[in-house]
Amino acid sequence: MTETGAADTGDDTVTGGGSAAVEREASGGAETADGRDDVATETGPEEVEREASGVERDAAIGDGAVGIGPLEATVRGRRTVRKFNGKPLDKRLVIELLEAASWAPFHSRQEPWRFILFCGDGRKKFAEAMMSTLNKETKAEWGEWFEDQFCRLIPAHLLVVIPADPRQKAWEDAFSAASALIQNFQLLAWERRIGVVWKTNEYNWDPRFHRAVGVKPGERIVGTLHIGYFDRVPRAGKRLPIDQLLTCFEE
Ligand SMILES: Cc1cc2nc3c(=O)[nH]c(=O)nc-3n(C[C@H](O)[C@H](O)[C@H](O)COP(=O)(O)O)c2cc1C
Repeated sequence: MTETGAADTGDDTVTGGGSAAVEREASGGAETADGRDDVATETGPEEVEREASGVERDAAIGDGAVGIGPLEATVRGRRTVRKFNGKPLDKRLVIELLEAASWAPFHSRQEPWRFILFCGDGRKKFAEAMMSTLNKETKAEWGEWFEDQFCRLIPAHLLVVIPADPRQKAWEDAFSAASALIQNFQLLAWERRIGVVWKTNEYNWDPRFHRAVGVKPGERIVGTLHIGYFDRVPRAGKRLPIDQLLTCFEE
Protein backbone atom coordinates (compact mmCIF):
# COMPACT_ATOMS: atom_id res chain seq x y z
CA MET A 1 0.00 0.00 0.00
CA THR A 2 1.34 3.38 -0.84
CA GLU A 3 1.45 6.27 1.51
CA THR A 4 0.56 8.84 -1.01
CA GLY A 5 -2.79 9.83 -2.28
CA ALA A 6 -3.98 9.17 -5.72
CA ALA A 7 -7.14 9.66 -7.53
CA ASP A 8 -9.29 6.75 -7.95
CA THR A 9 -12.27 6.00 -9.94
CA GLY A 10 -12.82 3.34 -7.37
CA ASP A 11 -15.03 1.65 -9.88
CA ASP A 12 -13.74 -1.84 -9.60
CA THR A 13 -13.03 -1.67 -5.93
CA VAL A 14 -16.36 -2.92 -4.82
CA THR A 15 -16.93 -5.37 -7.57
CA GLY A 16 -13.98 -7.49 -6.66
CA GLY A 17 -11.73 -5.68 -9.07
CA GLY A 18 -8.61 -7.01 -7.41
CA SER A 19 -6.08 -5.60 -5.07
CA ALA A 20 -4.60 -3.06 -7.42
CA ALA A 21 -7.92 -1.28 -7.57
CA VAL A 22 -8.44 -1.61 -3.87
CA GLU A 23 -4.98 -0.33 -3.25
CA ARG A 24 -5.80 2.73 -5.29
CA GLU A 25 -8.94 3.27 -3.29
CA ALA A 26 -7.08 2.52 -0.14
CA SER A 27 -4.21 4.83 -0.85
CA GLY A 28 -6.76 7.46 -1.48
CA GLY A 29 -6.60 7.45 -5.02
CA ALA A 30 -5.06 6.97 -7.99
CA GLU A 31 -3.78 8.13 -10.96
CA THR A 32 -5.07 11.58 -11.30
CA ALA A 33 -6.91 12.61 -14.38
CA ASP A 34 -3.61 13.11 -16.13
CA GLY A 35 -2.40 9.71 -15.14
CA ARG A 36 0.24 10.46 -12.57
CA ASP A 37 0.29 9.72 -8.90
CA ASP A 38 -1.06 12.49 -6.84
CA VAL A 39 1.93 12.78 -4.59
CA ALA A 40 1.83 15.35 -1.88
CA THR A 41 4.35 18.09 -2.30
CA GLU A 42 6.55 19.63 0.30
CA THR A 43 4.00 22.37 0.54
CA GLY A 44 2.96 22.71 4.14
CA PRO A 45 -0.07 24.20 5.82
CA GLU A 46 1.35 27.75 5.59
CA GLU A 47 1.25 27.40 1.86
CA VAL A 48 -2.42 26.47 2.01
CA GLU A 49 -3.04 29.46 4.18
CA ARG A 50 -1.42 31.68 1.65
CA GLU A 51 -3.32 30.18 -1.25
CA ALA A 52 -6.59 29.95 0.54
CA SER A 53 -6.52 33.46 1.88
CA GLY A 54 -5.68 34.90 -1.47
CA VAL A 55 -2.68 36.71 -0.03
CA GLU A 56 -0.83 35.80 -3.17
CA ARG A 57 -3.11 37.91 -5.27
CA ASP A 58 -1.39 40.04 -7.76
CA ALA A 59 -0.94 43.73 -7.99
CA ALA A 60 -4.09 45.77 -8.15
CA ILE A 61 -6.10 45.80 -11.33
CA GLY A 62 -5.40 48.98 -13.18
CA ASP A 63 -1.65 49.03 -12.98
CA GLY A 64 -1.30 46.68 -15.90
CA ALA A 65 -0.91 43.49 -13.86
CA VAL A 66 -3.41 40.67 -13.96
CA GLY A 67 -5.47 40.94 -10.81
CA ILE A 68 -6.27 37.78 -8.87
CA GLY A 69 -9.01 38.24 -6.32
CA PRO A 70 -9.51 35.96 -3.35
CA LEU A 71 -12.14 33.90 -5.17
CA GLU A 72 -9.84 33.21 -8.09
CA ALA A 73 -7.01 32.32 -5.73
CA THR A 74 -9.27 29.81 -3.97
CA VAL A 75 -10.54 28.34 -7.25
CA ARG A 76 -7.01 27.93 -8.55
CA GLY A 77 -5.46 26.85 -5.27
CA ARG A 78 -8.01 24.25 -4.14
CA ARG A 79 -6.86 20.66 -4.47
CA THR A 80 -8.62 17.39 -3.91
CA VAL A 81 -7.42 16.02 -0.58
CA ARG A 82 -7.25 12.28 -0.12
CA LYS A 83 -5.02 12.02 2.92
CA PHE A 84 -6.51 13.27 6.16
CA ASN A 85 -4.79 13.73 9.50
CA GLY A 86 -7.51 12.62 11.90
CA LYS A 87 -8.08 16.00 13.53
CA PRO A 88 -11.73 16.25 14.65
CA LEU A 89 -14.08 18.45 12.66
CA ASP A 90 -17.09 20.09 14.26
CA LYS A 91 -20.36 18.96 12.67
CA ARG A 92 -21.63 22.56 12.92
CA LEU A 93 -18.86 23.64 10.59
CA VAL A 94 -19.96 21.15 7.94
CA ILE A 95 -23.50 22.46 8.27
CA GLU A 96 -22.30 26.05 8.01
CA LEU A 97 -20.42 25.19 4.83
CA LEU A 98 -23.52 23.50 3.44
CA GLU A 99 -25.65 26.55 4.27
CA ALA A 100 -23.35 28.70 2.17
CA ALA A 101 -22.83 26.09 -0.57
CA SER A 102 -26.58 25.79 -1.05
CA TRP A 103 -26.53 29.22 -2.71
CA ALA A 104 -25.55 27.34 -5.84
CA PRO A 105 -27.93 27.95 -8.74
CA PHE A 106 -30.75 25.47 -9.31
CA HIS A 107 -33.45 25.39 -11.95
CA SER A 108 -36.37 23.66 -10.26
CA ARG A 109 -39.13 24.90 -8.01
CA GLN A 110 -37.39 23.54 -4.98
CA GLU A 111 -33.78 22.84 -4.28
CA PRO A 112 -33.15 19.41 -5.78
CA TRP A 113 -30.68 18.13 -3.18
CA ARG A 114 -30.65 16.56 0.23
CA PHE A 115 -27.73 15.41 2.36
CA ILE A 116 -26.75 12.50 4.57
CA LEU A 117 -23.92 13.21 7.00
CA PHE A 118 -21.88 10.67 8.96
CA CYS A 119 -19.73 11.99 11.76
CA GLY A 120 -18.63 10.83 15.21
CA ASP A 121 -19.83 7.29 15.86
CA GLY A 122 -22.16 7.62 12.87
CA ARG A 123 -19.11 7.01 10.70
CA LYS A 124 -19.40 3.31 11.58
CA LYS A 125 -22.67 3.22 9.68
CA PHE A 126 -20.94 4.60 6.60
CA ALA A 127 -18.04 2.14 6.93
CA GLU A 128 -20.36 -0.83 7.40
CA ALA A 129 -22.57 0.22 4.50
CA MET A 130 -19.59 0.62 2.19
CA MET A 131 -18.08 -2.66 3.34
CA SER A 132 -21.35 -4.52 2.82
CA THR A 133 -20.72 -4.03 -0.90
CA LEU A 134 -17.26 -5.64 -0.84
CA ASN A 135 -16.66 -9.28 -1.61
CA LYS A 136 -15.28 -11.52 1.13
CA GLU A 137 -11.67 -11.48 0.00
CA THR A 138 -11.52 -7.73 -0.44
CA LYS A 139 -13.12 -7.19 2.90
CA ALA A 140 -10.69 -9.58 4.58
CA GLU A 141 -7.74 -7.83 2.98
CA TRP A 142 -8.82 -4.21 3.28
CA GLY A 143 -11.58 -4.10 5.91
CA GLU A 144 -9.37 -2.87 8.72
CA TRP A 145 -7.78 -0.24 6.55
CA PHE A 146 -11.14 1.11 5.45
CA GLU A 147 -12.36 1.17 9.01
CA ASP A 148 -9.32 3.14 10.09
CA GLN A 149 -9.85 5.63 7.28
CA PHE A 150 -13.60 5.98 7.58
CA CYS A 151 -13.96 5.84 11.37
CA ARG A 152 -10.74 7.50 12.57
CA LEU A 153 -8.77 9.54 10.03
CA ILE A 154 -11.66 11.08 8.12
CA PRO A 155 -13.95 13.02 10.46
CA ALA A 156 -16.96 13.36 8.18
CA HIS A 157 -18.59 11.71 5.17
CA LEU A 158 -21.34 13.46 3.30
CA LEU A 159 -23.67 12.09 0.63
CA VAL A 160 -25.26 14.53 -1.79
CA VAL A 161 -28.52 13.02 -2.99
CA ILE A 162 -30.95 14.11 -5.72
CA PRO A 163 -34.15 12.65 -7.16
CA ALA A 164 -33.60 10.40 -10.17
CA ASP A 165 -36.04 12.21 -12.41
CA PRO A 166 -36.84 10.15 -15.53
CA ARG A 167 -37.13 13.35 -17.60
CA GLN A 168 -33.71 14.03 -19.05
CA LYS A 169 -33.81 17.80 -18.69
CA ALA A 170 -35.02 17.71 -15.10
CA TRP A 171 -32.42 15.05 -14.28
CA GLU A 172 -29.58 17.01 -15.86
CA ASP A 173 -30.71 20.26 -14.24
CA ALA A 174 -30.72 18.61 -10.82
CA PHE A 175 -27.41 16.87 -11.36
CA SER A 176 -25.75 20.04 -12.60
CA ALA A 177 -27.10 22.08 -9.71
CA ALA A 178 -25.88 19.50 -7.19
CA SER A 179 -22.46 19.51 -8.85
CA ALA A 180 -22.32 23.30 -8.52
CA LEU A 181 -23.23 22.94 -4.86
CA ILE A 182 -20.47 20.39 -4.33
CA GLN A 183 -17.88 22.66 -5.90
CA ASN A 184 -19.11 25.56 -3.75
CA PHE A 185 -18.69 23.30 -0.75
CA GLN A 186 -15.17 22.29 -1.77
CA LEU A 187 -14.11 25.91 -2.27
CA LEU A 188 -15.67 27.14 0.96
CA ALA A 189 -14.03 24.27 2.85
CA TRP A 190 -10.67 25.05 1.24
CA GLU A 191 -10.90 28.63 2.44
CA ARG A 192 -11.00 27.22 5.95
CA ARG A 193 -8.21 24.78 5.28
CA ILE A 194 -10.54 21.82 5.27
CA GLY A 195 -9.90 19.23 2.59
CA VAL A 196 -12.50 17.39 0.54
CA VAL A 197 -12.45 14.53 -1.93
CA TRP A 198 -15.51 14.02 -4.11
CA LYS A 199 -15.87 10.29 -4.68
CA THR A 200 -17.92 8.40 -7.20
CA ASN A 201 -17.05 4.85 -6.25
CA GLU A 202 -19.29 1.95 -7.31
CA TYR A 203 -21.07 1.76 -3.99
CA ASN A 204 -22.75 5.09 -4.84
CA TRP A 205 -25.00 3.01 -7.14
CA ASP A 206 -25.21 -0.13 -5.02
CA PRO A 207 -28.71 -0.87 -3.63
CA ARG A 208 -27.15 -2.50 -0.55
CA PHE A 209 -25.33 0.73 0.23
CA HIS A 210 -28.48 2.75 -0.48
CA ARG A 211 -30.58 0.64 1.89
CA ALA A 212 -27.96 0.80 4.63
CA VAL A 213 -27.65 4.60 4.57
CA GLY A 214 -31.27 5.50 3.81
CA VAL A 215 -31.05 6.55 0.17
CA LYS A 216 -34.61 5.94 -1.02
CA PRO A 217 -35.74 4.23 -4.19
CA GLY A 218 -35.91 6.94 -6.82
CA GLU A 219 -32.92 8.80 -5.41
CA ARG A 220 -29.36 8.95 -6.66
CA ILE A 221 -26.09 9.87 -5.02
CA VAL A 222 -24.24 12.61 -6.92
CA GLY A 223 -21.17 12.26 -4.76
CA THR A 224 -19.73 11.01 -1.53
CA LEU A 225 -17.59 13.72 0.03
CA HIS A 226 -14.90 12.79 2.52
CA ILE A 227 -14.15 15.89 4.56
CA GLY A 228 -11.38 16.66 7.04
CA TYR A 229 -8.15 18.36 7.97
CA PHE A 230 -4.88 17.59 6.23
CA ASP A 231 -1.16 18.29 6.54
CA ARG A 232 0.00 18.45 2.95
CA VAL A 233 -1.39 20.09 -0.13
CA PRO A 234 -1.43 17.64 -3.04
CA ARG A 235 0.40 18.69 -6.17
CA ALA A 236 -1.73 20.38 -8.79
CA GLY A 237 -2.57 18.51 -11.95
CA LYS A 238 -2.45 20.13 -15.36
CA ARG A 239 -5.03 22.31 -16.99
CA LEU A 240 -4.89 22.88 -20.72
CA PRO A 241 -4.66 26.45 -21.98
CA ILE A 242 -8.20 27.50 -22.85
CA ASP A 243 -7.27 28.36 -26.44
CA GLN A 244 -6.81 24.61 -27.00
CA LEU A 245 -10.38 23.99 -25.89
CA LEU A 246 -12.21 27.00 -27.22
CA THR A 247 -14.13 27.41 -30.43
CA CYS A 248 -14.95 31.06 -30.83
CA PHE A 249 -17.11 32.66 -33.51
CA GLU A 250 -16.37 36.34 -33.75
CA GLU A 251 -17.94 37.35 -37.02
C1 LIG B 1 -17.47 14.07 -10.70
C2 LIG B 1 -16.17 13.77 -10.00
C3 LIG B 1 -15.93 12.51 -9.51
C4 LIG B 1 -14.74 12.21 -8.81
N1 LIG B 1 -14.55 10.96 -8.31
C5 LIG B 1 -13.42 10.68 -7.64
C6 LIG B 1 -13.23 9.39 -7.08
O1 LIG B 1 -14.09 8.50 -7.18
N2 LIG B 1 -12.07 9.15 -6.44
C7 LIG B 1 -11.11 10.12 -6.29
O2 LIG B 1 -10.09 9.84 -5.68
N3 LIG B 1 -11.28 11.37 -6.80
C8 LIG B 1 -12.40 11.65 -7.46
N4 LIG B 1 -12.59 12.92 -7.96
C9 LIG B 1 -11.56 13.95 -7.77
C10 LIG B 1 -10.76 14.15 -9.06
O3 LIG B 1 -9.96 13.01 -9.29
C11 LIG B 1 -9.92 15.42 -8.92
O4 LIG B 1 -10.80 16.52 -8.89
C12 LIG B 1 -8.95 15.56 -10.08
O5 LIG B 1 -7.89 14.63 -9.96
C13 LIG B 1 -8.34 16.96 -10.18
O6 LIG B 1 -7.67 17.28 -8.98
P1 LIG B 1 -8.00 18.63 -8.19
O7 LIG B 1 -9.42 18.50 -7.68
O8 LIG B 1 -6.99 18.65 -7.07
O9 LIG B 1 -7.83 19.77 -9.14
C14 LIG B 1 -13.76 13.23 -8.63
C15 LIG B 1 -14.01 14.52 -9.14
C16 LIG B 1 -15.19 14.79 -9.80
C17 LIG B 1 -15.44 16.19 -10.33
